[in-house]
Amino acid sequence: MKEKLQKLGELKREAEMGGGASRIEKQHAKGKLTARERVLLLLDPDSFEEIGQLVRHRSSDFGMEKTRFYGDGVITGYGTVNNRLIYVFAQDFTVFGGSLSETHAEKICKLMDLALKNGAPLIGLNDSGGARIQEGVKSLGGYADIFYRNVRASGVIPQISAIMGPCAGGAVYSPAMTDFTIMVEQSSYMFVTGPNVVKTVTNEEVSAEELGGAMTHASKSGVTHLTAQNDLDCIMQLKKLLSYLPQNCESTPETLAYDLGEEYRPVLKDIVPANANQPYDMRKVIAGIMDTDSFYEVHKSFAENIVVGFARIAGRSVGIVANQPASLAGVLDVDSSRKGARFVRFCDCFNIPLLVLVDVPGFLPGTDQEWSGIITNGAKLLYAFSEAVVPRVTLITRKAYGGAYDVMNSKHIGADMNFAWPSAEIAVMGAKGASEIIFKKEIKAASDPAKKLKEKEAEYAEKFAHPYLAAERGFIDEVIDPAESRRKLIKAFTMLKNKVDQLPRKKHGNIPL
Ligand code: HXC
Repeated sequence: MKEKLQKLGELKREAEMGGGASRIEKQHAKGKLTARERVLLLLDPDSFEEIGQLVRHRSSDFGMEKTRFYGDGVITGYGTVNNRLIYVFAQDFTVFGGSLSETHAEKICKLMDLALKNGAPLIGLNDSGGARIQEGVKSLGGYADIFYRNVRASGVIPQISAIMGPCAGGAVYSPAMTDFTIMVEQSSYMFVTGPNVVKTVTNEEVSAEELGGAMTHASKSGVTHLTAQNDLDCIMQLKKLLSYLPQNCESTPETLAYDLGEEYRPVLKDIVPANANQPYDMRKVIAGIMDTDSFYEVHKSFAENIVVGFARIAGRSVGIVANQPASLAGVLDVDSSRKGARFVRFCDCFNIPLLVLVDVPGFLPGTDQEWSGIITNGAKLLYAFSEAVVPRVTLITRKAYGGAYDVMNSKHIGADMNFAWPSAEIAVMGAKGASEIIFKKEIKAASDPAKKLKEKEAEYAEKFAHPYLAAERGFIDEVIDPAESRRKLIKAFTMLKNKVDQLPRKKHGNIPL
């Protein structure tokens, strides 16, 4: 027994080191933690159980038989994060650059199968040079085996990818199919083809960082939902993200203990400016309504005209989708529609109720948007809300104009409770645009057309720029004092706690992708 343990100790050390302490030092010199340090930091102390530590590759081409490291460049296993079961794999860059061999892939697949069958989140800590070049198609097959399982597990268990080093070629498609991606700034990148290939094919000169670094994917492509300053920050954020999520699609997120108190929030009265054209930060509304410091924003730097993220209200985890008047007046465009739709669908998969805060002047006009498919992309958000069966609550703070009123979780597409502040304006379009169209002849014939337009604008605003017509029809359930918002929303989400709703029987819907 002692011998066995000794042997295991040695193997453990070998697997850990990937064949030499200098490799660990190299990893540290790049400002990166080792794969094992990352796993141990993520999981509760003493909770990690490793699976497949003694696995070695079977390749003998290119002299590979001489370097058969235990673990084959990936640590796989399970443990707990805040006492919840989690499956985790961590690629070890110190072993063949973390590249994915046939056996490396088998280890990840085994873990994915376990995670799926046992209904617990899967976290991938990616740090890899891609397909193991010496193994050819066997490693490509290994990637496809992983992709297939990503899709099978999608919507059943939360899957989260941390990119903590290189992630290139087809390897990027596994993270892309998981629910959330977080990239470490400066030390990670993702691209289908690297700078050299880009230069050959398009003659563009671009650095790896610029092409596929964390900030590029956070702000330009939206490929990553989150960024981290370093490995430690990345692991801490993974833990935070997990805290809002349930174990699987059959369970609900943990609700933290909360005793109701004075829930009146006067600060909410002063956020919306008197001038309807003046911007304000919707995050202030979120902060005023939700539990203190509970908002965890995702996709922060991408499509900033919509804000999405998780927060808690009276201890309950809620997904927030909010127009952002501080960016492009909160208009809906291609990117914000895609961003919102993806988030809504995630929350619906995992029983996370939705709070939608509305201040939207409509869809962004222009050739750029039309030619980029604002029709199909806007439809994604409409579709996502319409098919969501989780509790859905809307609060209109100011504008809700045109098609965007319908799209932003209106009563008509299945929202459960719809509130509006007295400052809400619910109409087909803004007073100026509407007056220019319907009073065109009258304005043209007037001795002072500009004065007439102003008069008509005021007439239109008086008739439509408020929430009371919508409330009269029951499209708004209640017009509320802003300071009462938190209290009203706590009550609404509590009332909706046991909501049961189902879509008609089908294989799956056909969202306009
Ligand atoms: C085998 C690899 C490897 C790979 C790196 N290594 N990538 N071994 N297969 N894919 C090894 C190196 O030989 C080296 O071994 C060690 O890992 C560290 O690599 P370095 O190059 O010294 O590190 P660094 O300078 O940091 O550069 C990292 C890197 C570079 C940028 C990732 O190694 C690189 O460009 N690798 C190839 C990337 C690639 O083209 N992969 C295939 C993508 S296509 P020693 O023994 O010297 O320490 C793909 C298809 C997937 O993945 C398709 C799925 C559908």
